[in-house]
Amino acid sequence: MTAPLRVLVTGAAGQIGYSIVIRIADGTVFGKEQPVELVLLDVPQCTAILEGVVFELQDCALPTLYSVVAVTDEKSAFTGVDYAFLVGAMPRREGMERKDLLAANVKIFKSQGKALAEYAKPTTKVIVVGNPANTNAFIAAKYAAGKIPAKNFSAMTRLDHNRALAQLALKTGTTIGDVKNVIIWGNHSSTQFPDVTHATVKKNGSESDAYSAVGDNDFLQGAFIATVQKRGGVIIEKRKLSSAMSAAKAACDHIHDWHFGTKAGEFVSMAVPSDGSYGIPQGLVFSFPVTIDAASREWKIVQGLNFDDFAKGKIAATTKELEEERDDALKACDDANI
Ligand code: NAI
Repeated sequence: MTAPLRVLVTGAAGQIGYSIVIRIADGTVFGKEQPVELVLLDVPQCTAILEGVVFELQDCALPTLYSVVAVTDEKSAFTGVDYAFLVGAMPRREGMERKDLLAANVKIFKSQGKALAEYAKPTTKVIVVGNPANTNAFIAAKYAAGKIPAKNFSAMTRLDHNRALAQLALKTGTTIGDVKNVIIWGNHSSTQFPDVTHATVKKNGSESDAYSAVGDNDFLQGAFIATVQKRGGVIIEKRKLSSAMSAAKAACDHIHDWHFGTKAGEFVSMAVPSDGSYGIPQGLVFSFPVTIDAASREWKIVQGLNFDDFAKGKIAATTKELEEERDDALKACDDANI
């Protein structure tokens, strides 16, 4: 039998947790031939809910689910993990600003960064979903440094990427499979820059660039960007809860591609520690277009893309926000006596 992969989901009693665990357990993420040992972490107050999720997973009778355990302490959660989905955090409620969230969440990710360093495999790959995702990933990477390389930490902007694909498909009357190479630059927040300059759309058998396919530059530089940037807020307004089904699906897409590699000729958006590409300050966890090599499971930032002045302005704004978040988080970490 192929050795099982040990996969941690934090916040597993929450709403994204409920949608994500089935996809990891049923082979959607790691393949139908790959057994998975699933570890579910949440806070002790959620013990009964976690137990209910474990029972439901057992009842799914999944051939790929080698084992599933529910835990409420970091040592049991992080020991020996191959992949960690860090979802658990305080979610943003209607009217709440991201900065209110930051102070509460930095503490969690400082502690989990240390726990990853102490207990997880040095090869562990981490996706941070809990908001503010980019900055939480930056903090977790900082406190795991020396044991786990920063390149193994990422934050999720795949939901924004998928939203951009969907809006482009809807506008051009095509389907998702016809649209590729949108880019989300920067932060998973309303300053993100959804960029279609390098995207293509296949319609009636022929492929063209997104600007030609849409034929409406005002839309692409206006309503399209605003819709993608603000989609999370609109979902909260409608559901009174933040995106869960789509967020879980996006996290699974992100890890699936990290594990299996991206398709030839396609890139995906992933927030990763900057290596200085495109002038983004080193170490900032910034969403870039990346390709992933299937054999090495290493991501590479797509190089050589050109920006016009419009794009430069958008990228500067999201960079500034991330630098401010980083500085606030570092200060909160000094204050967080853990
Ligand atoms: P939720 O409130 O339903 O679930 C969060 C769970 O995390 C709760 O069960 C809570 O007890 C648990 N939790 C809190 N602190 C924890 C800790 N220290 N260790 C382990 N578990 C802990 O929230 P939901 O809707 O599942 O969202 C989770 C996070 O994902 C939020 O921060 C939300 O803002 C974020 N999110 C990120 C998206 C992205 O695109 N990056 C998209 C949608 C949501």
